Amino acid sequence: MRVLVAYASKHGSTQGIADRIGEDLRQDGHQVDVRPTGKAGHAEEYDAFVVGSAAYAMHWMKDASTFVKRNRSTLEQRPVWFFSSGPLGTDRVDKEGHDVIEASLPKEAQEFAFLRPRDHHVFFGALHFDELGFTGRMLKKMPATRDTIPEGDFHDWEEIDRWAHGIGRELNG
Ligand SMILES: Cc1cc2nc3c(=O)[nH]c(=O)nc-3n(C[C@H](O)[C@H](O)[C@H](O)COP(=O)(O)O)c2cc1C
Repeated sequence: MRVLVAYASKHGSTQGIADRIGEDLRQDGHQVDVRPTGKAGHAEEYDAFVVGSAAYAMHWMKDASTFVKRNRSTLEQRPVWFFSSGPLGTDRVDKEGHDVIEASLPKEAQEFAFLRPRDHHVFFGALHFDELGFTGRMLKKMPATRDTIPEGDFHDWEEIDRWAHGIGRELNG
C-alpha cells in the first residue's frame, strides 16, 4: 500500500519518530513517503495515513492540524493513525497519580476523533534545553522548570517499532 507518514516537528524529535515509523512500514512491504505536514503534497495519492505532531502546551503544532483539516475528505475515506510526541521523563504516573500518557493526549485527539482514527498513540519525546534558543535558556535558568521538566532523550524505540509494525500488519491484513 502507498502510505504517507506526515509529521510536524519543531526540534527534530518527532521527525525522528516519523522516520522510524516509515522504515518499519517499508520493512513490512509498503511504499512509504515521510514528509513534513507543511510539504506533504497530494494526499489523494495515498491509501493510508500516519499523522503525528510534537505536543506544545497541550496542542499539536499548527501545520499538523492544518494538514488534517485541509485533507479531511480524503482522510475520512482511508485508514488513519495519529501519534503525538510529548511527555518527557520516565515516570508513567505523575505526582498526582495521573497516567502520564493519558494526561498528555493533546486537544486535537478529541477535535479529530470524528475521523475515527484506528489509534492515537502518545510517545515519549526528547528535550535539550540548548536546542531551544532563547526559550531554552530561560527555562534552564528558572528552578521551577529546570527541576520539573526533564531534559534528555526519552524515546522508546521498541514501543515505536511495535506500534508501526502493528499498522504494517493491519494494512497487509
Ligand atoms: C515550551 C514547551 C512546551 C511543551 N508542552 C508540552 C505539552 O503540553 N505536552 C507534552 O506532552 N509535551 C510538551 N512538551 C515536550 C515536547 O513535546 C517534546 O520535547 C517533544 O519531543 C518535542 O518534539 P520536537 O523535537 O519534534 O519538536 C513541551 C516542550 C516545551 C519546550
